[in-house]
Amino acid sequence: MLQPRPGGVYVDATVGAGGHARLILERIGPRGRLLGIDCDEAALEATRRALAPVGPTVVLRRGNFRDLAAIARDEGFDAVHGVLLDLGVSSLQLDDPERGFSFRREGPLDMRMDQRGSLTAEQVVNRMPERELARVIHALGQERWAARVARFIVERRPLRTTRDLAEAVAAAIPRRAWPRDLHPATRTFQAIRMYVNDELANLEAGLEGAVDLLAGGGRLVVISFHSLEDGTVKRFLEHEARGCVCPPGQPVCTCGHRPRVRALTRRPLRPSPEEIAANPRSRSARLRAAERL
Ligand SMILES: C[S@@+](CC[C@H](N)C(=O)[O-])C[C@H]1O[C@@H](n2cnc3c(N)ncnc32)[C@H](O)[C@@H]1O
Repeated sequence: MLQPRPGGVYVDATVGAGGHARLILERIGPRGRLLGIDCDEAALEATRRALAPVGPTVVLRRGNFRDLAAIARDEGFDAVHGVLLDLGVSSLQLDDPERGFSFRREGPLDMRMDQRGSLTAEQVVNRMPERELARVIHALGQERWAARVARFIVERRPLRTTRDLAEAVAAAIPRRAWPRDLHPATRTFQAIRMYVNDELANLEAGLEGAVDLLAGGGRLVVISFHSLEDGTVKRFLEHEARGCVCPPGQPVCTCGHRPRVRALTRRPLRPSPEEIAANPRSRSARLRAAERL
């Protein structure tokens, strides 16, 4: 969907361990340019070392993709041919117990993607009022047992580790209601992580910045991993693809809205069974793409 072309200019706004970046670099060749952005210093450091041999074709910058357009222009990238967003946590982050993302490994309740962030999961879990906690777990985790989960968390305070949190959640949800193919704490961990990192607000700002940055015919490709993200991307692209967005029945247009993109995917693309077998973490991925008008 991104179709990187020789000599093209691209932004990988979630460069992580550089897997996609490497493939883009192969396609754009030595005359192309790639800007890689990530908010996680550890990921960026490793990727900087790994991509050093590529030379000046690639620029890596620590930052949040909510500031995508400003970062890119600051680095001399404008009117680009493509922007990629591969959302969520990386395998590096998930597999490092010290980062606190995983309920399978004991670690501190951290969950910050950007280690400079001031809010941690520990603060959310131990300080947020019960009703607010229930609201967050319900809204961002789509967890129907959110009220009970919040009550169990509050009763067990202070919680110190990812295991404390996973156990509180597992105790709160009756065993008969445990999801069949998911750990019972999956949704609560997702909700707290999204809250700590302000993920949906960042995504909206990042999508806006990406469309601003694209040249006509340039492509935006977004890979998301759950329905809240995918829904945000879908609504954004539908809105950007429309002309007038005045309320129905209004006789004269007053909004002046013009379509800025054309969707390339009517439904999100999903991984094939072969891809899921080779890379089980791809199983919930959904890809949407659009072209700048
Ligand atoms: C799924 S991983 C990307 C993996 C990458 N495509 C690769 O091939 O290795 C998502 C990455 O996005 C980063 N990230 C998440 N939200 C971000 C944000 N708002 N701004 C910048 N980076 C972000 C995470 O730190 C993580 O490294």
